[in-house]
Formats: sequence, C-alpha cells, structure tokens
Amino acid sequence: MKTKGLILVACVICFVLACRTSRQNTGVNVDKALSYCDTQVKRTLSQLRNAQGEIDYSMMPRNIMDSLDTWHCRKAAIDEWCGGFWSGILWYNYEYTQDTTIRNEAEQYTNALKFLSQTPAFDHDLGFLVFCSYGNGYRLTHNPEYKQVILDTADTLATLYRPKVGALLSWPRHVADYGGHNVIMDNMINLEMLFWAAKNGGNPYLADIAVSHADKTMKHHFQPNNMCAHVAVYDTLTGDFIKRVTHQGYADESMWARGQAWAIYGYTVVYRETRDAKYLDFAQKVTDVYLKDLPKDYIPYWDFHAPGIPEEPRDASAACVVASALLELSTYVPGEKGDEYRKAAVKMIGSLSSNKYQSGKSKPSFLLHSTGHWPNGSEIDASIIYADYYYIEALTRLKKLEEGRDLLI
Ligand code: GLY
Repeated sequence: MKTKGLILVACVICFVLACRTSRQNTGVNVDKALSYCDTQVKRTLSQLRNAQGEIDYSMMPRNIMDSLDTWHCRKAAIDEWCGGFWSGILWYNYEYTQDTTIRNEAEQYTNALKFLSQTPAFDHDLGFLVFCSYGNGYRLTHNPEYKQVILDTADTLATLYRPKVGALLSWPRHVADYGGHNVIMDNMINLEMLFWAAKNGGNPYLADIAVSHADKTMKHHFQPNNMCAHVAVYDTLTGDFIKRVTHQGYADESMWARGQAWAIYGYTVVYRETRDAKYLDFAQKVTDVYLKDLPKDYIPYWDFHAPGIPEEPRDASAACVVASALLELSTYVPGEKGDEYRKAAVKMIGSLSSNKYQSGKSKPSFLLHSTGHWPNGSEIDASIIYADYYYIEALTRLKKLEEGRDLLI
C-alpha cells in the first residue's frame, strides 16, 4: 500500500516536472502570444472601420512601413498576391478565441475573394490567395460554398500547368523578360491547394500536376548545396531547363531567406500529401542548409549572402514560414533530428514573440522587421501581412503540439 502511494507521488512529481520542463523548454507562452494577436486583430479591425463604423471588405491590409502606424491596404485583385492573408489571420484568430464577431469578419473578408474562383489565372499566387482564406475557412466551418470556391480555383491554377515543362508557369506576364517558362520557388506553396482539391472531389490529375511540379523544381531549382534560386527558367517549347536566376534575392546564387523558407514549407507539404520518403529527405536537406547559418536569434537576414551582414535588415516573415513548417516537419522526422527541428521552431517563435520583433503598442500588426522586396527597395524592415499570417499559424500549431493535438485539423 505504502509502495503504491510512493509510486503515485513519484508519478505526479514526474508529470508536473515534465509539464514544467516542456513549458520551460519552449520558453514561449503560447496563450500569451495568441492573446496578443487577438488584441492586435481587434486594433486592426477598429482601424479599418470608417467614421460610420463600416468596413470596406475589399481592402486588405498589406504592410505598415517602419515610420508609420496604420495599415496600408490594397484592393483585392488578381494581381494582389497578399489578398488572402488577412482573412486567414481572422480564421486563425477565430479558431483560438471562438469569438463569433471575429468569425463574422473572417466570413466577410473571405467572401470578398470569391471572384478569384471565377476569373482566368493571372499567375500562380491563387493558392496563397484562396487556400489561406477559403482553405482555413473550410477547415473550421465545412461550409460547402467554400469548398466549391477552392475546387474551382484549383482548376484555374491548373491552367498554368505546361506538360512540356512538367511544371506550373508562375508569371505568365514575365515569359519574355525571363526568356521562357518561369517557375518561382514561392509556387511550391500553391501545390497544397491542388493536393487538397484532388482529395476532396476535384480531378485526381491535380495531385499529379503538383507532384510533377515538385519533382521538376527539386531537379533544377537548387544548387548542389541545396540552396534554392528564386526563379528557374525553362524553354517553353522543349521544356529544357535553361537557368537559375534571382528576382527578390541578393544574387543568382545567394540564399534569399524567404525563397528557402518557401522550399522548406513546400517540400514538407509534398511529403505530407504523398508520404514519399524522397520528399522527406529533401525537406530536411533544404532545412539543414537554412539552419546552419542563422544568426543567434534564429531570425534570418533577408538574404544569407547579403553583403552588409550584420547591418542588413532581417526578414521576420521567413522565420514565421520556417517555424510553422518545422513544427510540422518535426512530427514526420523521428528521433533527435525531429527534436532538433521542433526546438529550432520554438526558438524562432520565442524570438518573434519578444519585444524586439513584436510590434506591441507601436502598431496594430503582430510583428516588425520583415523584408518584402529588397532589390526593388520595397517593404524593407516593415510589418508585412504574410509574416503575421505565418506567425499566428505557427503559434496555433505550437499550441496543438503542446496539447498533443493534430497540427493540421
Ligand atoms: N513573391 C512572394 C514573396 O515575396 O515571397
């Protein structure tokens, strides 16, 4: 009896220590960070209301430059690639708070993007636009209208697939400038919507397109050291690979932080959807080269080879994308390596949640210090909506991981 009692006490102590250890190990108070996001979402919503208290749901928050404290909004349009992130943020915020007023706002902003399912493809960004908005909306509500929008948009995205190349065309408007069929690394993110559609009543061919795109990209988009270029160009007629060049990075052979982040996230998704070990192996390769040269706080400079490091701007958005991806990847990779990925993600989220990176009272965005397009001189050291989107996604995933829940449901 006495022994049983002692065992019970020992178990309770171990359990309490384990809980404390996991909280200490993460060093992130996820609920505090998600409550902070809720506060910032409400500040943003009140900023978006006009004097009559009305919101123009077609205007999507895009960025806040360093010197400003109000969102610059852009009209939802086929050529505004960031139009779906704000409604995605609202859906994640609703998922955490269960606040029906937030759900109502999420629905209104999501509905403002329906036209994308009824318009010919302008470029590859349809996955960003529709899967972050309608995708999260459907995940949380199972609204059949949302499902139809996603299925229709996946079919539209598929019109950019060129069998001769075996990949989607990212920027139809830039075929002449780049000298052929251009594929950008960001395009990997749009594959998730094709996989989803193929499994949810769409044409199974959509998954074949996604796999072909991932394979072609794996073959040609990376240097032997596993760093990706931003753009790969293929001969439109023969499909032959021509060259790798940059668009938003420092140089053709440098590692543009967000490009590599898209690769890490993209191949993690392709592994999830195919369970083919070659993608798991590749996701680790593209991750390992990224983790190797990070600054101490795990928030990358905008390009790992930018010449002015350590004075170069950071890109918090890349850290958000990678943190979210690594939480998922850590669940597929067994043993120490998986732990290493989870710890790296937690370290990123910890830094992002510090006063250095959170906007706090200074602005209604979640985060500061992202870099959009350095060669263009745009959105440098700014708050950018996709950083906030992947930050709240990463926090939501971390909370589910801590609670032993499925990250993706
Ligand atoms: N072109 C999308 C990005 O800036 O990552």
